[in-house]
Amino acid sequence: MRMKPIHLALALLLSACGGDNAPEEKGPPPEPAANVQTGQKLAAEVCAACHGEQGISQQEGTPHLAGQHAAYLRSALHKYKAGQRQSEAMAGIVEKLSDQDIIDVAAYYAGLPPFDGDRNPAKADGVPAVANPIEQGQQAAAACGGCHGADGHSAMAGTPHLAALSQDYLAKAIHAYKDGSRQHQIMAGMVASLDDKTIGQIAAYYASLPLKGTGKADKGDAAQGKVKSEACAGCHGADGNPGDPKNNPALSAQDAQYLASAIRAYKDGSRKNEVMPGIVANLSDADIDNLAAYFTGQERAAPPPVARPMGAKEWAERCDRCHGPNGTSQVARQFPRLAGQRMEYLQQALHQYHEGKRKHSTMERMVFPITDAEIEAVAAWYSRQK
Ligand code: HEC
Ligand code: HEC
Ligand code: HEC
Ligand code: HEC
Repeated sequence: MRMKPIHLALALLLSACGGDNAPEEKGPPPEPAANVQTGQKLAAEVCAACHGEQGISQQEGTPHLAGQHAAYLRSALHKYKAGQRQSEAMAGIVEKLSDQDIIDVAAYYAGLPPFDGDRNPAKADGVPAVANPIEQGQQAAAACGGCHGADGHSAMAGTPHLAALSQDYLAKAIHAYKDGSRQHQIMAGMVASLDDKTIGQIAAYYASLPLKGTGKADKGDAAQGKVKSEACAGCHGADGNPGDPKNNPALSAQDAQYLASAIRAYKDGSRKNEVMPGIVANLSDADIDNLAAYFTGQERAAPPPVARPMGAKEWAERCDRCHGPNGTSQVARQFPRLAGQRMEYLQQALHQYHEGKRKHSTMERMVFPITDAEIEAVAAWYSRQK
């Protein structure tokens, strides 16, 4: 028999989903014969205490089971039983369940009406917007603009431009001032009260700004500096735009006086570093001015782009591909329903995949790049769908 295009597309989708999902090339196998009444009895005696009378859980961290696919419920129970999925609450329960118990109880819960969302305790408050770290960084950097310029382009000779340095280098530099491994009295005071999150946001902000134009040096010979700069090119790039800007800062278009003073600080030992002091040890005063004149005259290339966070709906578009429109799970039986599920349970499950505590190659890949704020938003989104 020829496959209809839609079945073919589904088969391709399923086979692309990774090793955990057996590709169902010949269509799903028939549901095993179940005794729903036995399942109901077992549910009332054992499961209802946590999962609720009708499979609607009132307990934090305990998922609703009503209306979930029987195939998914069976697979989840077998995973607990085999120790592939860890849960203290479920471990003791599944130990006593036979394969037939699992078939019966899964069929019972699958036949119950799913949570309608109206009684969702989390429904009242809206889906949180995912804050943009760049915007938050801009606010947190208000106090830095006086010296480093409102756009990260400093107007004070001797003070570095921060625009278009890489996010990682900026964060590292701020941490170094904070923990004293890079000594500078003014900067130490400026960053003393910043927490890790804010440092990350400020770094994202400056890294997202372009550094336009080039600098001018009032001393030094750029042509001679270019000759000397061959020793620097391996790390900082021939034109001061490094191949690995995370670790090696860009020097192009940087303030000339700052470049010279930074090199002198490595030379006299007041700025500590494993590589730089050895490299600049034999540079003369004239060499240093020449190098600064050369690098300040080069144009800055854009650093690696700063990751833009995605909102709940944008994420959900990726997830609905398997979990069905709005998480209502109409695609295939092994993709669990997410619509109306308890928010904190969804959040917890996503964190477990993210940290590798709940093993599933497809889901681990899906949530690999997700941030905590995005997990919260997408969990809130699905918990509010009917
Ligand atoms: C002591 C409380 C408790 C009892 C009793 C209990 N469960 Fe659970 N169950 C939980 C908790 C908590 C979780 C979430 C665990 C996790 O994060 O993996 C869970 C998860 C599950 C899941 C996974 C659902 C999903 O969406 O992945 C299934 C299926 C399940 N339980 C079925 C049952 C069945 C069937 C029974 C009765 C035979 C039962 N449970 C009894 C607390 C309980
Ligand atoms: C009073 C002026 C002043 C203020 C305000 C100021 N800075 Fe600085 N900043 C400096 C000077 C001067 C240096 C060069 C210090 C050195 O030689 O190590 C510097 C260096 C830096 C560097 C290192 C750049 C590089 O290329 O290695 C970073 C990053 C930085 N500042 C971030 C900040 C942040 C973030 C704030 C606001 C919280 C801030 N600064 C506020 C004067 C200031
Ligand atoms: C082996 C790699 C390597 C080479 C070669 C190298 N650098 Fe560096 N350079 C670094 C690293 C790493 C840093 C950041 C160190 C830190 O955090 O203090 C740095 C920092 C600097 C800074 C400070 C920039 C800032 O924004 O604060 C200047 C200026 C500098 N290098 C100039 C030079 C010059 C000039 C040469 C050639 C004579 C050179 N470097 C060669 C790796 C290198
Ligand atoms: C390629 C198919 C696919 C995509 C895309 C996908 N999932 Fe899944 N998802 C699955 C499968 C299969 C499972 C069951 C895994 C297991 O048994 O642990 C699952 C399980 C889950 C669970 C656990 C449900 C429960 O009841 O315990 C959550 C939560 C979840 N996915 C959320 C998401 C989110 C959010 C996205 C989008 C970022 C997403 N999924 C994208 C296939 C997918």
